[in-house]
Amino acid sequence: MAPDLLARIKRQGAVPRHIAIIMDGNGRWARERHLPRPLGHRAGMKAVREVVEGAIAAGVEVLTLFAFSEENWQRPPTEISALMELLEEYIAAEVEELRQQGVRVHVLGDRARLGPGARAAVERVEWETRDGARLVLNLCISYSSRAEIARAARLLAEDVLKGTKRLEEIDEEAVQERLYTAPWRDPDLLIRTSGERRLSNFLLWQLAYTELYITPLLWPDVTRRELFEAILDYQRRDRRFGKVTV
Ligand code: IPE
Ligand code: IPE
Ligand code: MG
Repeated sequence: MAPDLLARIKRQGAVPRHIAIIMDGNGRWARERHLPRPLGHRAGMKAVREVVEGAIAAGVEVLTLFAFSEENWQRPPTEISALMELLEEYIAAEVEELRQQGVRVHVLGDRARLGPGARAAVERVEWETRDGARLVLNLCISYSSRAEIARAARLLAEDVLKGTKRLEEIDEEAVQERLYTAPWRDPDLLIRTSGERRLSNFLLWQLAYTELYITPLLWPDVTRRELFEAILDYQRRDRRFGKVTV
């Protein structure tokens, strides 16, 4: 449970209100055990449960998880179907628990590319958790940041063509309002597991001033303890947003 770390977090001060996570390393976790890659993804489901519960315990308001990128559609069909089946399985197994925990789930990304089963599961979890008020859980599925920004540009161009927006009104706020993440503030903290030091097309706009935390742990090995360690590290950062602190 790591109550020691949780107590330190509460003593140390403000908790990041929005945490984003690039959940990486399932394949390597499986390879280390001479297992097929899908078993690494399956093991990763437990880590999702851990960080959701950890986020609730710490008082985080929004948790945004990168589960499947648009680029991941280029993986072998067997791996893609295993991932889609796991998504459906995760939702079927967790929806009631999520609802009871007060978690509200949103799925961000190009859902038109999902198969009918996955799309139905996504719609179901969004609907059944719609009253959740403790934690927003954003699952980024078939998501890429550049596609999200291009989509925002297209939507704004449409507004101008229709005459509902003037060209002078296209500013940073107007773009932000057309991103999938429009309802929420930018992440305060980004965690990436498996030691990779890149963003892999995740939230490029939103991460402008986000604090980065990279851990060598592979995603299936992550527990709430790791989330708490990341929060403690975040609390020691000096966020300046380009200004001077005295
Ligand atoms: C992250 O694990 C899950 C997805 C991208 C769907 P990976 O499958 O990328 O695992 P590695 O990076 O190959 O170890
Ligand atoms: C990023 O991980 C996408 C997700 C975690 C869903 P990848 O494993 O796809 O990224 P790269 O290929 O290492 O950049
Ligand atoms: Mg990877």
